[in-house]
Amino acid sequence: KKRIGILTSGGDCPGLNAIIRAVVKYATRKSWEVFGIPRGTDGFVDIVKGDLEIEDLRLKDHGYDVPGVLQGLDILQFMSGSVLGSISRSNVKNENVTDSILAGYRQLGLDALIAIGGDGSLDIIYDLAKKGEWNLVVIPKTIDNDVAFTERSVGFDTARNTVTQALYDLTFTAASHERIMVVQVMGRDAGHLPLHSGIAGGADCILIPELTPQLTNNIIDGMTQYIAKLRCDRRKFALVVISEGVRGLKGEKDAYIAETLAHLLKEASHRLCATGDERYCGLDQVDTRATILGHLQRCGVPSSFDRILATLFGIKALHLIEEERYNRLVIWQNGTVESKSLEQIMPLIKWCHQEKTCPSPVDPEGFMVRTALS
Ligand code: F6P
Repeated sequence: KKRIGILTSGGDCPGLNAIIRAVVKYATRKSWEVFGIPRGTDGFVDIVKGDLEIEDLRLKDHGYDVPGVLQGLDILQFMSGSVLGSISRSNVKNENVTDSILAGYRQLGLDALIAIGGDGSLDIIYDLAKKGEWNLVVIPKTIDNDVAFTERSVGFDTARNTVTQALYDLTFTAASHERIMVVQVMGRDAGHLPLHSGIAGGADCILIPELTPQLTNNIIDGMTQYIAKLRCDRRKFALVVISEGVRGLKGEKDAYIAETLAHLLKEASHRLCATGDERYCGLDQVDTRATILGHLQRCGVPSSFDRILATLFGIKALHLIEEERYNRLVIWQNGTVESKSLEQIMPLIKWCHQEKTCPSPVDPEGFMVRTALS
């Protein structure tokens, strides 16, 4: 019989509640207690302050029922967000806070903790776990899909579907107005989300940080020439996807990079047309619009893949705890669920987080991006 804790940390994504559901259901079968730590590691601080009554999630009334249809746990896998909350405002570098978190963990008398997080949270929680000698199992989640060692993180598939649908929808307004739609997609410094959804959503050009760390005049002109050819050969509208991680012309971080690019593409179109070169005739008619998809990319009913992944990851975490194989990251590799020792992989994960990069390959899709631009 075990007493386990579970928390969600970092940016939310669809599928977090599906993991919680799977863990609670499977733990119930084993008669293990499951304590939901609210608001990430901040929850431990509140426990010490005495501000918080921690409930066994098996008994909790989740209060999100569809009356007469789905109650309690049953509805969780269809809901995005996290019923536990995912706020970690405390500064874990402050020793008082760290001590408080460790004390909260001890106060609960947990045998193990399941932490659901991305690489940033993983970095923080692993250090805490080492200090407090926690028995930790981590489940990767993020729409960015940038946790090293796992091919998929919970949340990515749903976000990919959401962005793909948005691109499809934008196609029709782009076509009606013969516009270039520039769409800014999340993913932080990793290009998985813009790349996958750009391909699936039929984007004409896709810019990701791994291949295009920053905008250059050459890239702008190359895209404009490509769009000019598209206008001559096939159609007068175009769809351009840009990752939020691509920097501006001076290498600066730009929260509105899609707007910057839309402006630069319009300017380049008019400039090339003014050269009188007949390949660029009509480019003075080009009009552009930017769409920043924003946090809608973290919303929506989790896809079936994310629900399945969440369920498999949740069950795997409990198996690891049952076998007392702690301090491991649950991963998805070659179509199966595995796990890796955190001790072995943390140096690379920390490096990825600090360097804002991820070793996961972008080819062969990257090849398509280069081809599209050539
Ligand atoms: O890491 C997930 C993510 O959605 C990134 O894609 C994005 O850059 C970031 O979080 C946004 O964070 P916030 O919710 O703090 O604005």
